[in-house]
Amino acid sequence: MIFPTSQLSSLEKTFREAEEENEDGFQFPWTADEIDPTLLGPVRFTSTSTVRAALQLARLTADDTVCDLGCGDGRVPILAFSEFGVRHALGIELEDSLVATGNETLRKFQIPGERVTIIQGNVVQLSPTLRESVLSCSVIFIYLLFDKLHLIEPFLFEALQRGARIVSVCFFFKKWGRAALSDDMKCALYTKESVGPSLLCSWSSDAKNPPS
Ligand SMILES: C[S@@+](CC[C@H](N)C(=O)[O-])C[C@H]1O[C@@H](n2cnc3c(N)ncnc32)[C@H](O)[C@@H]1O
Repeated sequence: MIFPTSQLSSLEKTFREAEEENEDGFQFPWTADEIDPTLLGPVRFTSTSTVRAALQLARLTADDTVCDLGCGDGRVPILAFSEFGVRHALGIELEDSLVATGNETLRKFQIPGERVTIIQGNVVQLSPTLRESVLSCSVIFIYLLFDKLHLIEPFLFEALQRGARIVSVCFFFKKWGRAALSDDMKCALYTKESVGPSLLCSWSSDAKNPPS
């Protein structure tokens, strides 16, 4: 653990307050047609206990590099660093205001920019450099809507082939075998071994019709 307990409590308090504000009157849109078509998921934060469960499921260690695709207020990369001490954590988020919130938290808790980076970007239109950065991560975290997952499935499959573990909160891949589920069944872990080679076949033979 990089942060002392007191600092971790203060960090958790910051995230809890953001959750409370976010939850106020919020109805989770379960399907993609209920949200802005450019979004892969609504702004909804994962509780710190679920982030912890997801990262434990992925057996995160200080040797890992982590990325959250659609990172909201940056809590996943920040907790990956402050609790698990990962080498580097990256968060990519579409909404400028959330990127600003994440960077403000980095400043407030004096988290070095070379260990945690939170940047604005669209995860379905990554620049070649950013794409390579994500693909080089050993753990990829997602909390995105079920019927949008097909938009990033080939990319994530490529990451798996390069040895990444993928952990998904709440929404799971229809055609992928899971390596493990968290005790509360909120988080699923995928590895190259659990997913197997079958998706590669379906993608190469039917590339224009991604799995739904
Ligand atoms: C359900 S929230 C999850 C936030 C964070 N990962 C967490 O677990 O607390 C999904 C996030 O993805 C972001 N998002 C949606 N579509 C995106 C896209 N195309 N590129 C980047 N971020 C996106 C939303 O703005 C939102 O903050």
